[in-house]
Amino acid sequence: MRVLGIESSCDETGAAVVDETGFVWADVVASQVREHAPYGGVVPELASRAHMRNLVPVLEQALDELDGGLDAVDAVAVTRGPGLVGALLVGVQAAKALAFARGLPLVGVNHLDGHLLAVFLRRTESVERPPFPYVALLVSGGHTSLYEVRSFLDTELLSSTRDDAAGEAFDKVAKLLGLGYPGGPVVDRLAALGDPHAIELPLPMNRKGSLDFSFSGLKTAVAQHLHRRGVPTSEAGLADLCASFQRVVVESLVSKSLEACRQRACRHLVLTGGVAANRGLRERASEAALALGVRLWVPPVASCTDNAAMIAYAGLKRLEAGMEDDMTMNTFSRDPGFRRGRIL
Ligand code: KG4
Ligand code: ZN
Repeated sequence: MRVLGIESSCDETGAAVVDETGFVWADVVASQVREHAPYGGVVPELASRAHMRNLVPVLEQALDELDGGLDAVDAVAVTRGPGLVGALLVGVQAAKALAFARGLPLVGVNHLDGHLLAVFLRRTESVERPPFPYVALLVSGGHTSLYEVRSFLDTELLSSTRDDAAGEAFDKVAKLLGLGYPGGPVVDRLAALGDPHAIELPLPMNRKGSLDFSFSGLKTAVAQHLHRRGVPTSEAGLADLCASFQRVVVESLVSKSLEACRQRACRHLVLTGGVAANRGLRERASEAALALGVRLWVPPVASCTDNAAMIAYAGLKRLEAGMEDDMTMNTFSRDPGFRRGRIL
């Protein structure tokens, strides 16, 4: 079975085709970073308009990459939420139109399920996959949460951020430092050049046993530091700040992820979401996991950041379980599973 996935929940327009082995036959992503960069963050109306412009070319390119094109597609999966409703509607309407015109099954996917299952995508011939259950840290611009993933369809939310997502904190600190948008990659690059202990910053939500995250206090601490000392003018000064900030974010993410593994007696930890591209996070997580006998799984960056292949795969798993949607399917802006329990 080959499933066409469509993703348009935020600022990336994606189309991809995946089969039941997780093999990615086509994967196209059009980023809107340039549209939103002047505003230092995603502007919802601009995002919807860019999806309108980009979706058909992205779909055409993905289908061009697939032998047989649309004739080789057996079902259509689409992100229904969480995300920006105007943006989601563009993808959902396109998916409905394609499914209706071709008489194909249609399935709506929770974007977060896509991220949690992205570790099963195969972009090369062979790839090892984690066994169930695994603990997953989903860390992106919009989400910072821990889950226990027990099967393709049974996922429990263990904790979330109480305020900003980690990626949002990277973006806001980069904005304070005048480093542009999105901030994660540039802070990551500068952090590698700096001293992570140069500036003392508070470790958020440091209560023993707590799995909850919080990053807005840390961002405020950086803002206060800059207010007292001014924005560093040298690259070395910027690098020290980035390294110190990143160290604290990474420490919080890694310690809570491993605490979740301990609480759930689970020996497999998956990192996913755009911030999982962070080199500091990957390094620290692999050292800390090794020391505790936990195996770390980090998908390639193309699978961690927003993409439609993960949506196609999560949709395929729903279809295999007989879960199909119809033309009344709607979008949702917030994750309905924002409580302990199974997510949609
Ligand atoms: O998953 P993603 O592509 O989109 C969603 O938010 O769903 O994640 C984007 C976020 C942005 O906040 C970006 O700054 C952050 O991921 N990011 C990084 C890195 N690359 C992307 N954060 C830290 N280090 C990176 N290397
Ligand atoms: Zn995402």
